[in-house]
Amino acid sequence: MDKLVIEGSKRLSGTVEISGSKNACLPILAATLLTDDKCVIRNVSTLRDISTMLKILKNLDVKAKQESDVATIEAAGYKKFIAPYELVSTMRASICVLGPLLGKQKRAEVSFPGGCVIGPRPIDIHLKGLRALGVNIKVEKGYLIADGRKMRGSHIYLGGHFGSSVLATGNIMMAATLTKGVTVIENAACEPEVVDLAHFLIKMGAKIKGHSTHRIVIEGVKKLHGAEHAVIPDRIEAGTYMLAAAITKGDVIVKNAKLEHLIALVDKLEESGVSVKKVPSGLRVKHVKKLKPADITTLTYPGFPTDIQAQMMSLMTVTDGISVITEKIYPERFIHISELNRMGADIILEGATAVIKGVKSLSGAPVMASDLRASAALVLAGLVAEGRTDVHRIYHLDRGYERLEEKLVKLGANVWREKEK
Ligand code: EPU
Repeated sequence: MDKLVIEGSKRLSGTVEISGSKNACLPILAATLLTDDKCVIRNVSTLRDISTMLKILKNLDVKAKQESDVATIEAAGYKKFIAPYELVSTMRASICVLGPLLGKQKRAEVSFPGGCVIGPRPIDIHLKGLRALGVNIKVEKGYLIADGRKMRGSHIYLGGHFGSSVLATGNIMMAATLTKGVTVIENAACEPEVVDLAHFLIKMGAKIKGHSTHRIVIEGVKKLHGAEHAVIPDRIEAGTYMLAAAITKGDVIVKNAKLEHLIALVDKLEESGVSVKKVPSGLRVKHVKKLKPADITTLTYPGFPTDIQAQMMSLMTVTDGISVITEKIYPERFIHISELNRMGADIILEGATAVIKGVKSLSGAPVMASDLRASAALVLAGLVAEGRTDVHRIYHLDRGYERLEEKLVKLGANVWREKEK
């Protein structure tokens, strides 16, 4: 197992290029199961989660390979419909094969995804939506056994306790493309990743309207064909580098970052005193004056993303004054707090609200990464901390950040990977 070592207190400057979005790519790869034809997906990051999805496809007897940033998938005549525990247990997003398998094969057996360090993460909204489409679902031996032989279009309200669901919207949308009749998804998620999936499905011949709103209408078609698509840039990776620039008082051009995808973060950064300017290649993030504390609540898109909450908290730890962060998507997603406090931060947690009292400086320490975004937050803290920080268990980072240390080094950071002793 590897760890990341960071010698902190280096100002970052230069240009960093953002890779393809992990969370847009995963359901798009799953969507290739809807056709017998070849699909070519570009701007695919080399990440552990992506290779897990390709393994799931191969396990279904689908031809799937990735060369550099291009994935080629050919699902001609596959008959298998099982996503096994060994693969699903390593990545919850595996659930997004459920919709396409039902759409194409009218049956699916997918291991029931378990808990996760960021919270309970139920799948009731996925199941509610699929049942509304006429799918019969039972749970047996830890597997969801889904029979879609009686599927038909339906009017579905896809809301849950925490609002809309990204992957449930994707699953229902994918299942509905090949389901007879019209399906209307009310309270659909409108995250850019859902919109990108809709764009790919439309290229495949699906009839979808209203994507990027909370009401998506899908008219089922008999067949989908192969398509080529380039995945959108990763807004969470972009946001993480924007915060890396801010926390190190740097000046960084985040190439490929899209302002419209990051508007809530940009708003908060500007409010705190960080300059964010649109430039031809992306966004330029520059430290210009003493930072002010912030009050942030995570929400569904276009609100402040939960996936940037932890990284934003790292910035707040060294921002003079009291900042408040309330987590409304995953109320338990605060596993990073205790590790940040070990580095000298002053954060208390009150329910789903963290109160962060800015300190003058953080001090490097050995810390333990626990989930993907929490790990990114610890890396940011390490970049600004005095002395050496060892971030252990960085396999979490390898799930979602492509060539992280290489990109940081290019910006002037002193970061390297070491084997754990
Ligand atoms: N929820 C339910 N029931 C469901 C589904 C979701 O109660 O059936 C709840 C969740 O527990 C959560 C909220 O609804 O409280 C939103 O969850 P959502 O379903 O939108 O999350 P997801 O689709 O499983 C994706 C991303 C996550 C990201 C969330 C929220 C992928 C592969 N994952 O998950 O990304 O945090 O949307 O934006 O797209 C990450 O990249 O680190 C990550 C966790």
